[in-house]
Amino acid sequence: MTKKQLEESTEYLKSKGFDSPEIGIVLGTGLGKLVDAITDPIVAHYNNIPFFPLATVEFHSGKLIYGKIEGKKVVVMQGRFHLYEGYDFLDVTYPIRVMHQLGIHRLFISNAAGAINLDFKKGDMMLLEDHINLQGGSPLAFKNVSEFGDRFVDMSEPYDVEMRQKLINIAAREGISLQKGVYVSVVGPQLETKAEYRMLRMMGADAVGMSTIPEVIVANHLRLPIVAVSVLTDECDPDNLQPVNIQEIIEVAGKTEPKMVKLFSELIKEI
Ligand code: HPA
Repeated sequence: MTKKQLEESTEYLKSKGFDSPEIGIVLGTGLGKLVDAITDPIVAHYNNIPFFPLATVEFHSGKLIYGKIEGKKVVVMQGRFHLYEGYDFLDVTYPIRVMHQLGIHRLFISNAAGAINLDFKKGDMMLLEDHINLQGGSPLAFKNVSEFGDRFVDMSEPYDVEMRQKLINIAAREGISLQKGVYVSVVGPQLETKAEYRMLRMMGADAVGMSTIPEVIVANHLRLPIVAVSVLTDECDPDNLQPVNIQEIIEVAGKTEPKMVKLFSELIKEI
């Protein structure tokens, strides 16, 4: 990754009308509906943006959408790149750097995750308060990282405290139940074994997923305040583990989606 590549990606988007967005939003699996709330949308397909990672056939629908939600200029990533698709850490975080270069000064992230904390139920949402990176690498481990910011990035408070509190208040006001906890990221794409779920629980994780943390690390590198919410799509009970059903995971994410849309659009209104 070079600064010149980032500039070319950004210039292409600016020429399409992506004019100084304030907020960047990453939509997770089964959570695409927020897109319907965008007025005057401008769409850029990932495959047409210079230096963007090439989208796989399966995820050909990946796009960046610019427009307004609640009167604020936003840029939304519909579909993200995952390590389990064969992308590397620089690929999966490249769009975050591009959105930052476009001018965003806040980032919202959503994802689908499994509930490790068994007090949490399928269909609940969880606000990320902290995380554990088990993906075996870092999006900051590259030679010219210091051209882009610090190498030894502070991670003492990776999720913005003020936006977290706003989301907690919004959830209470709207009667939406919002758990809080620690997210652990794995590479995937295979799900976890019973022994792995037990280990993750012992480590202090409340939810497990296959994304988000590289994006959060890069956002911290860029000093970009972020807030992240998981939709808990399955219960990872090692003593009663059911075979995974991806269709059901996507279905649960879809059913929970309206609550996620509500949380994010109210937060956009308030900031
Ligand atoms: N493990 C990892 N990722 C997931 C899970 C899970 O149980 N559920 C949804 N995404």
